[in-house]
Amino acid sequence: MTILVTGGAGYIGSHTCVELMKNGHFVVIVDNLVNSSWEVNKKISEITGKSHYFYKDDVRDEKALEEVFEDMIEEGKKIDAVIHFAGLKAVGESVDFPTKYYDNNLNSTITLLKVMKKFNVTKIIFSSSATVYSAENHMPLKEDGKLGAVNPYGWSKLMCEKILEDAAVAEEDWSVVLLRYFNPVGAHESGLIGENPKGLPNNLVPFISQTAKGMYKEVKIFGDDYDTKDGTGIRDYIHVVDLAKGHVKAIDYAFKNIGCEVFNLGTGNGVSVLEMINTFISVNEVDIPYSVTPRRAGDNAVSYADPSKAFEVLGFTAEKTLADMCRDTWRFQMSTSLQTEN
Ligand code: NAD
Ligand code: WQD
Repeated sequence: MTILVTGGAGYIGSHTCVELMKNGHFVVIVDNLVNSSWEVNKKISEITGKSHYFYKDDVRDEKALEEVFEDMIEEGKKIDAVIHFAGLKAVGESVDFPTKYYDNNLNSTITLLKVMKKFNVTKIIFSSSATVYSAENHMPLKEDGKLGAVNPYGWSKLMCEKILEDAAVAEEDWSVVLLRYFNPVGAHESGLIGENPKGLPNNLVPFISQTAKGMYKEVKIFGDDYDTKDGTGIRDYIHVVDLAKGHVKAIDYAFKNIGCEVFNLGTGNGVSVLEMINTFISVNEVDIPYSVTPRRAGDNAVSYADPSKAFEVLGFTAEKTLADMCRDTWRFQMSTSLQTEN
């Protein structure tokens, strides 16, 4: 099948392109490179030994997107389905620049749906997030849990979910799959693709690995007074290659089912900040200084998935261990020259 991957040069998108290609799909990437690098295309080809198409376009640019769909028909590779990763994802930045986030994340989704309808492409997988769950839920988080966001980024994901859900009601033959990712970490085992954010990382694991590399003096643990096993925050970290495989399962599902369905993609295991730091130290034999600071505003103590629906319906289960996540992150961090361009 020919799969259009928006945001395919990004962290999760690039790993998903690799898994799609390994499974015999042809991949077309549309990415404006606002948070990624063109070099990723070369790395994807190096890993897979296969070719793909890349368009440097903004998904909000309707005309440019139509040209991509037209090109692919002319090439004899009509787009069969779309995976929509393109979006902005920095929570703090979304609080400072909400309209930028709503514009990018909502308008890219709306434009994509319009163009899909025009070209009669009826299958879409969407990157949602565990951040759409309200803090009032009990763990583990289930797909039918209470929803509610606490920042513009989270609201943009919830609003996109609603737009997509409504599209699936209006278009009776469409298949819409909403995937709620927990905390993606790690890198491809080749060390060729991974996540290397420019500037102060927003997330724990890039901060740990950049500190291990000597780029920061220490990791700041945001609170050790939570009601958890060691007082630090607990999250459900999932290896990005497992996550990518989840998308291949979602594509298979979309070809066999219609309507809108939502799935958690997580491991179901809660890991504390201290456990993550200590595993990274022991697996990679590195030194990571850390200190405890006050809690970060807006953080929940605990978040982890009930992954059983994805297992039962998609046949998806995360296989990689915490040690794999730490080892692969470090291998990529030590070898990469890849960095986002902005
Ligand atoms: P990323 O920033 O690495 O990838 C997103 C890609 O989309 C980038 O390559 C960027 O250049 C591109 N992009 C952004 N806006 C675009 C636009 N208007 N047109 C074309 N390209 C555009 O992020 P990621 O971690 O790979 O996340 C992928 C998706 O998954 C995002 O939608 C994100 O919100 C969602 N998600 C990420 C996480 C996480 O922790 N990484 C968790 C849950 C959900
Ligand atoms: C993990 C744990 C922190 C940094 C965010 C977004 C969410 C989703 C994934 C996209 C928490 C602690 C962190 C540090 C620390 N993204 N921490 N020191 O907050 O679960 O989720 O990324 O959808 O929307 O909110 O991930 O990696 O920032 O934090 O102690 O320097 O590490 O308090 O307990 P989070 P994170």
